[in-house]
Amino acid sequence: MSLKPALPLRPRPARALLALLAVSLVLGLAWLASSQWQSSSSRSALERLRADANRLHHLDALLLQLLDAESSVRGYLLSGNPVYLGPYQDGGLRVAETLATLRADDWRDAAQRAKLAELAQRVDRKLAVLASAVQTGVSPGIDAPEGGPGKQTMDDIRRIIGELRGDTLAEIDQSLIASFARFGNARELNLLLGAGILVLLLALVVALYRQGLLREKLAAMLHSENERLQAEVEQRTTELSSLATYLTNAREQEQARLARELHDELGALMTAAKLDAGWIARKLPADVMAPLRERFDRLLDTLNQGIAIKRKVVNDLRPPLLADLGLVEALRSLADSAAIGDREGRIELELPEEAPDLPPDTALALFRIAQEALTNVRRHAKATHATLALRVEPGALVLRIADNGIGFDPARLGRARHGLAGIAHRVQMLSGRLQVTSAPGKGTVIEARIPRTRT
Ligand SMILES: Nc1ncnc2c1ncn2[C@@H]1O[C@H](COP(=O)(O)OP(=O)(O)O)[C@@H](O)[C@H]1O
Ligand SMILES: [Mg+2]
Repeated sequence: MSLKPALPLRPRPARALLALLAVSLVLGLAWLASSQWQSSSSRSALERLRADANRLHHLDALLLQLLDAESSVRGYLLSGNPVYLGPYQDGGLRVAETLATLRADDWRDAAQRAKLAELAQRVDRKLAVLASAVQTGVSPGIDAPEGGPGKQTMDDIRRIIGELRGDTLAEIDQSLIASFARFGNARELNLLLGAGILVLLLALVVALYRQGLLREKLAAMLHSENERLQAEVEQRTTELSSLATYLTNAREQEQARLARELHDELGALMTAAKLDAGWIARKLPADVMAPLRERFDRLLDTLNQGIAIKRKVVNDLRPPLLADLGLVEALRSLADSAAIGDREGRIELELPEEAPDLPPDTALALFRIAQEALTNVRRHAKATHATLALRVEPGALVLRIADNGIGFDPARLGRARHGLAGIAHRVQMLSGRLQVTSAPGKGTVIEARIPRTRT
């Protein structure tokens, strides 16, 4: 089984999305700036128009005020009644004010400024002519063919005001034309920007939608890949665990066979040799036997040692009491044969009175677990006290080996440790649960809980 190649990762959509967002942002900002510019330029155009309209109004007012003054003086000259002079007397002041307002206006064109100066001059002259007429009682040069200085000045004033009006109207026309052009441009620009932003938004929505689809697809792929890997891991674990089970059983069978052969074959041979030696010793005359006695005793001793070693090896290979007397007695013998390491302390037993009725493979597994755990206590724990307990609970058997030794960190075990792994596997074979509780300096508790429904 081989792993599939890594899924192709595509950072492109995220980058495209960012670019789209950036362009939309730029367009949005441009739209904002353009509308800002439009409103400010429209405002200044309107202000300009208002100023021009004011100017027209003031030019007209000036002419009207002068005509008023003129007709007022004319009425006085004709009637001699000073009541007619009222408008002329007020008019002089108003004319000065209107002129001042016109002067204060913002005349950008030099020619227009010159015309305004000329107008002021003519107005002064007209007022002077009117003043002298009021004083003398006659209008100077009124009989002259060209109408006298009063008429000429008034004609000039009319002409200049007419020209200034014409200029101002032309300015108004120009600024209206420019405004219309600007409005037209702005409308096109707005249309363009708006359409651009709409298109980008659409593209953004499509990109997001596609990214969502892609993400869903990736998630589905990852999910199925995960499931495949999980199934593979499960299958491997099952294979390994069945291999371990096979090896454990094979070892037990091999050990049992070896024990049987040692016991039956080697045991029979050595017993026969011992019997034969005894027979020879009894048959030989005492004087022949005397010089051989020392050697002969050594031979018997050696044979006895051989038989003892054979028994120990057989016992180690196959727990002797397990088959005959059951688990409880086998566990008792395990504890009896074992002081804890170099120390004085021994193992305390907490075993049930009645041996539970167990299938042989369960009993053997529990015995091996206790054997390995006690070996660890002796080899590693440096404990002064240990307990080996078997509890029979309603649904389970609980085997517990505890010591007060140096303890260890179960999370930091090396790989080459097979004793605890073997214990765990045997517990798993019995569908049980193993709990290893230990910490440096805190002793160790190993508890295997085996369900009894199997028994
Ligand atoms: N009762 C115990 N007290 C202290 N340390 C222990 C005990 N049991 C196991 N250990 C620690 O856990 C390690 C792993 O144990 P084990 O798997 O049986 O391997 P091994 O006995 O071959 O070292 C031991 O090397 C030891 O450091
Ligand atoms: Mg060990």
